[in-house]
Amino acid sequence: MCNIVVLGTQWGDEGKGKIVDLLAEKADYIVRYQGGNNAGHTLVVGEKKFICHLIPSGILYEGKRCLIGNGVVVDPSVLFEELDKLTQAGLNVGAHSLGVCEKAHVIFPYHRLLDMAREKKKGKKALGTTGRGIGPCYEDKAARKGIRICDLLDPDILKEKLSENVEEKNFLLKNWYGLEPLEIWKMYEEYIGYGERLRPFVTNVAWELWEARRLGKRILFEGAQGTHLDIDHGTYPYVTSSNPVAGSICAGAGFPPKGVEHVLGIVKAYTTRVGSGPFPTELKDELGVYIQQKGQEFGSTTGRPRRCGWLDLVLVKDAIRFSGIDSIALTKLDVLSGLREIKICAEYKIKGANVPYRPNNIRELGEVEPIYITLDGWDESLKNVASYDALPQAAKRYLKIIEDILEVPISMVSVGAERSQTIVLREIYG
Ligand code: GDP
Ligand code: IMO
Ligand code: MG
Repeated sequence: MCNIVVLGTQWGDEGKGKIVDLLAEKADYIVRYQGGNNAGHTLVVGEKKFICHLIPSGILYEGKRCLIGNGVVVDPSVLFEELDKLTQAGLNVGAHSLGVCEKAHVIFPYHRLLDMAREKKKGKKALGTTGRGIGPCYEDKAARKGIRICDLLDPDILKEKLSENVEEKNFLLKNWYGLEPLEIWKMYEEYIGYGERLRPFVTNVAWELWEARRLGKRILFEGAQGTHLDIDHGTYPYVTSSNPVAGSICAGAGFPPKGVEHVLGIVKAYTTRVGSGPFPTELKDELGVYIQQKGQEFGSTTGRPRRCGWLDLVLVKDAIRFSGIDSIALTKLDVLSGLREIKICAEYKIKGANVPYRPNNIRELGEVEPIYITLDGWDESLKNVASYDALPQAAKRYLKIIEDILEVPISMVSVGAERSQTIVLREIYG
């Protein structure tokens, strides 16, 4: 038995999808516990590429159970679009392979509209959200007026809750944002329809996982976003509205903390960020553009270019502390081939003093000076490297320094988007 949490240690897009897909081969359950379709997890199998926004990244295998936990916010239209695409690709997906928690909150059109209207009103100060309605949906959840998956199956409850919500949202849309109000009945019919289609998928994830654990099944938790987008621990307010940290599986999937045997932190070999917010190691020069092009750093959800910079281990060390990370999967090492020198930041300088953690005052974070260790680069392509021994000396040194600074072992090194392009240093599943 081995239950694993996989999570992002930076600002998202670390390659969680690839690693979850790889580990899923040996897992029985693959579970999302937070976020929504703001996520874009890319899976590459041979010539085929799939992007999972809501459906867990284990869905490509037959005989697995993929679950969307109560902590996820679900946009049913996106869920069905994703299901249809997988079916068209010839996969046998259905209620046998996918379950959605009855307690998960539902994204409505007013959430998306409010998300986008708010960003527009903020102008230059916009957060750069994905515009998928994630923040407004979590707000309704916290305000105890959210509509849950189980409510979609009960026309009376849905009607009552939707009426209250639409009345309030229309007031905001019309009077604060100057937009057209929404028509409730069309929306009601649409969501009653989603409820009917969802019915066979609806489950109680916490209960299913309890049974799975009792039977000694292997459960793989798939984090979305990244630690520094965490609403509590991230670069607030430039964050998402959920908790990607490992502890969030307790709230977001109803799974006990003692049930987890391994926390795997995904670290991209450099740093990227989509959207606004401070980024101490950002490369605003042609080198940043070079890495962006070489690493194909364009959002899997919105297509926006990702800002790129050197590996910031201050961020990763914070992530290790917040989530108790046991080992690291280092991804996209191949992208760094061809650079004369490579830099790693392990500390910041703030007002003349060296600091080993990320400050929480956003202005201070914008002013920190990264302290770099400069290493030799390597020219060789890593795309076909299958073992640690076959890596160039300089790449081995890069890995060694990362391990030494983090004091956490690297269990996997990814050198390409495909499953086979992975060097396994330590098996996580015994
Ligand atoms: P996620 O959100 O953490 O799952 O990451 P994304 O899928 O948004 O972004 C990671 C991108 O890098 C995807 O296009 C992956 O196919 C790709 N990728 C993952 N691992 C590697 C790797 O080791 N090397 C290269 N070159 N690409 C990778
Ligand atoms: P995956 O799971 C990278 C970012 C957005 C924005 C901020 C808030 O693919 O790693 P939101 O729509 O969540 O309210 O936007 O968070 N963001 C992500 N950045 N990867 C993601 O997911 C992200 N999900 C949200 O760009 O800066
Ligand atoms: Mg992504």
